[in-house]
Amino acid sequence: MKAKILIVDDDPDIATMLEDRLQASEYGTVIARDGVEALDLVEQEAPHLMLLDLDMPRLTGIEVLKRLQKVKPAEDLPVIVMTAHASIDAAVEAMKAGAYDFLTKPLDKDHLLIVIGKAIERDSLKRQVACLKSEIDGRYASIVGMSAKIRAVMESAQRAAKSDASVLLLGESGTGKELFARSIHQWSLRQNMPLVVINCVALTETLLENELFGHERGAFTGADRLQKGKLEMAEGGTIFLDEIGDMSFPLQAKLLRVLQDREFHRVGGTRLVSVNIRIIAATNKNLQQAVKAGQFREDLFFRLNVISLTLPPLRERPEDVPALAKFFLNRHAREAKRPGMMFSLAAMEAMSRHPWPGNIRELENVVARAVVLNQSDTIEPDMLSLDTMGRTKPGELLPYLSLPYHESIEAHSRYIIERAIEEADGNQSKAADRLKLQRTYLARLLKQQKEKVEPE
Ligand SMILES: Nc1ncnc2c1ncn2[C@@H]1O[C@H](COP(=O)(O)OP(=O)(O)OP(=O)(O)O)[C@@H](O)[C@H]1O
Ligand SMILES: [Mg+2]
Repeated sequence: MKAKILIVDDDPDIATMLEDRLQASEYGTVIARDGVEALDLVEQEAPHLMLLDLDMPRLTGIEVLKRLQKVKPAEDLPVIVMTAHASIDAAVEAMKAGAYDFLTKPLDKDHLLIVIGKAIERDSLKRQVACLKSEIDGRYASIVGMSAKIRAVMESAQRAAKSDASVLLLGESGTGKELFARSIHQWSLRQNMPLVVINCVALTETLLENELFGHERGAFTGADRLQKGKLEMAEGGTIFLDEIGDMSFPLQAKLLRVLQDREFHRVGGTRLVSVNIRIIAATNKNLQQAVKAGQFREDLFFRLNVISLTLPPLRERPEDVPALAKFFLNRHAREAKRPGMMFSLAAMEAMSRHPWPGNIRELENVVARAVVLNQSDTIEPDMLSLDTMGRTKPGELLPYLSLPYHESIEAHSRYIIERAIEEADGNQSKAADRLKLQRTYLARLLKQQKEKVEPE
């Protein structure tokens, strides 16, 4: 259906003429004979656009515009006013009162349709933007988790958000560092200003420098005009430097200056550029160790580390797994248009037991896959592919890597054996074959492990 247009004119000939033309272009129409009727019809008919004559008895067009602002924000309903040639002043007044555009009488048919088409297109774009924005805000507004650990970080983050201090977000991969960076911006006084994200690991040193600081005209071959960098684009808002631990030493020095003085030179420039920005940085590296190893500047670390928040890994707060799993199931089932999907009890238990080496991102991926790959509405443990998913990146992400050497070796041994037995459907001989071990040796290892776990 094309848009519905409310025609407001006290002259029945003009109203009918407009109605015919608009209907010929497949618009829906409603006619109001005066301003009072127009205001009623706005509420009853919820038109997409109003064509409003300015010169009417009872209530003038200007009055209608003013009242409209009170009933329903005029920005929701685009109003195009119609006026006689002689009353351009009135048209200007109408624009000030919130009209979208004006047409002069006698009306030119083509011009009329163009103006209407544009107003409707703009209105629909506005709605789309508002809709997308609320969707994005919704995504970032929702930090799921009631565990004491995540609550504590959230409270600190909310407190930090109200200040302008730099924030350093630490934590393993997939623990929610970016989500927190975006939330801090949203909770801050800078929320209506830009949040600019830059990933320090995705670009080479030269490109990253250019992205961050921009360049002056002639800075290098091909730099034919001045280009602002992301620091300048974030003016008034926040810059989020993701994966800061991977930034090269020379760039660290340049960034230090920004943190100290909020000033820098564009590439190839001699003028100082000042910025008013809040800085949030994140890394999954251990920055203190990097400082000791001479890979990260100590002075920069101190400057960034004014407030540091460490996101706990998911395995340290398994009580959050069910809520997170349901949250992602909702999101992905809605996207796949499959409402009513749920986890079986066993699936929920399997997820709560899983160590989640890839943290929340891994959990989201597992749920997203289960939604896409399964026909059934109830998700069972075998549909979660927890084993393969959790083990796609062996070594690097395994939770026990943070344990002392001997405990880590034992945990790894236990893990290999459990997995082999699982894959062999509980058959120890087959598992021993797969591991190229004597069956008796495997039995002995199992016994030892059992004794360690359940000492007598
Ligand atoms: N508490 C939470 N509640 C809901 N969703 C979350 C939560 N924490 C993280 N997520 C979601 O998990 C995914 C991974 O989070 P995010 O990208 O913020 O992690 P990260 O720490 O930046 O990871 P990496 O170091 O790998 O970049 C995102 O889709 C994010 O929205
Ligand atoms: Mg990230």
